[in-house]
Amino acid sequence: MGEVFYVTTPIYYVNDVPHIGTAYTTVAADVVARYQRLKGREVFFLTGTDEHGQKVAQAAFEKNKNPQDWVDEMVEHFTETWKLLNISNDDFIRTTQNRHTSVAQKFIEKLNEKGDIYLGSYEGWYCVHDETFLLSSQLADGACPECHRPVEWVKEENYFFRLSAYRERILKLIEDDPSFVQPESRRNEVMSFIKQGLSDQSVSRTSFTWGIPLPFDAQHVMYVWFDALINYISAIEYGKNDERFTRIWPADWHLVGKEILRFHAIVWPAMLMAAGLPLPKRIFAHGWLTVEGEKMSKSLGNVVRPRELVEEYGVDAYRYYFMREFSFGLDGNFSRRTMTRRFNDELANDLGNLVSRVLSMVEQYRNGIVPSPRAQAPEENAIQEKAKGLYETVDELLENLEFNDALAKIWDFIRALNRYVDREAPWSLAKDKSKSDELDGVLYTCLEGLRIVSVFILPFMPDTASEIWNRLGIKEPISSARLPEASEWGNLKTGLKTRTGEPLFPRIQSA
Ligand code: ME8
Repeated sequence: MGEVFYVTTPIYYVNDVPHIGTAYTTVAADVVARYQRLKGREVFFLTGTDEHGQKVAQAAFEKNKNPQDWVDEMVEHFTETWKLLNISNDDFIRTTQNRHTSVAQKFIEKLNEKGDIYLGSYEGWYCVHDETFLLSSQLADGACPECHRPVEWVKEENYFFRLSAYRERILKLIEDDPSFVQPESRRNEVMSFIKQGLSDQSVSRTSFTWGIPLPFDAQHVMYVWFDALINYISAIEYGKNDERFTRIWPADWHLVGKEILRFHAIVWPAMLMAAGLPLPKRIFAHGWLTVEGEKMSKSLGNVVRPRELVEEYGVDAYRYYFMREFSFGLDGNFSRRTMTRRFNDELANDLGNLVSRVLSMVEQYRNGIVPSPRAQAPEENAIQEKAKGLYETVDELLENLEFNDALAKIWDFIRALNRYVDREAPWSLAKDKSKSDELDGVLYTCLEGLRIVSVFILPFMPDTASEIWNRLGIKEPISSARLPEASEWGNLKTGLKTRTGEPLFPRIQSA
């Protein structure tokens, strides 16, 4: 069971367009997926769009469009952006697809048969933007505590899910397994929320029709969150293809933003318990990104789209910056200033320079042929030692989603290589015929270091990694490299033909 490594992003509301916030989770999930593939795991990486609910219905109405036409139009923004960002998702689920709606209906039917669904009446507040039911006590100055928009009063007959019945089990689960909800600070928040008591969850709406009809009462459509969470199992054919489902489920990681953690850490596990299904292994709630110190919002007009940054900095620099600048569990602030600084210091100077000077020296002094390594010299040994420890360090960090620290360790190695070049000064060795062996050894060490760098940066910067790998003249594609073997010292073959090329990261003028 669960032999496939399964990672998910939230499914995004389709009526918004992708921005650096939604792209943040998606890029992180992509790094996780690519890293696990690099380790030889079979991976299933799922993302998609959340297409039902009142918010989508209203947006379509305002545009004078039929909701299905509207979502069909909007979904393109997501698929295009993920392509632009080199996202390697294995599937893209849309909640309006029949493969999803049929599973969602079967799922709620099952809970209904079990007696976990009952008809009641809901009276309370609703935030359409966040698609959440709110108690009066949760409001902040009469508005939604999350998005601060006005809320509306809802009085409807609704079906409810007996969430309260699962309170003890969920609390125990989170208490007993510290890795289930991460990071620690969020886990504590979830536990204290549960301790205050859980009320049953409304799972249907009657005041609009844009949703999945309940199989046992067609007057109701499924509450959009109940519908949405099911995407994680509908995409892998729950109830339709048992063999496939059990190979992939449970998810290894659900990656979500902190504002939707409760749905994932409380409601979703309770739904799965009710259906008698295994629970996801781990849920990680990452921090919230602001832009130049402000919350991103359409009304402030400060929403940053990936496309504009990719045009300015390139796709790999984009991916690098967001994974390097922020600690995954914490909030962070995007600014062009920090992005430009990291670009110039870490990509243009540290990495770009290393690649170009090493390859041009090999071209100049050895006609672009990988020379032979040399019997151990102490400085080379030090580089090898560093390279040897790198896999263990990076692996532990990436298994824990500490992307920024993993990159910092990789960059320590890149900087060590740069210092090594400065110290060994191949340009001086080249002037002295008697030091030819020494020069061979130094150049080999630099090239082998670059090969190892390219393997480690592959999950973060796939194009750059494969460009470096190809410039080293390695015949097999980098996609066939596997960790940990590919990080072992000495794999680079003598005699390969290297090539120089354009600078990988031409410096950007600071703003
Ligand atoms: O909540 N900083 O969809 P959504 C960091 N459809 N991450 C951000 C962000 C920001 N400023 N803004 C958005 C929904 N995100 C539901 C999910 S899942 C079954 C249903 C990311 O379009 C982050 O991952 O509002 C957040 O949780 C998600 O986008 C919310 O996307």
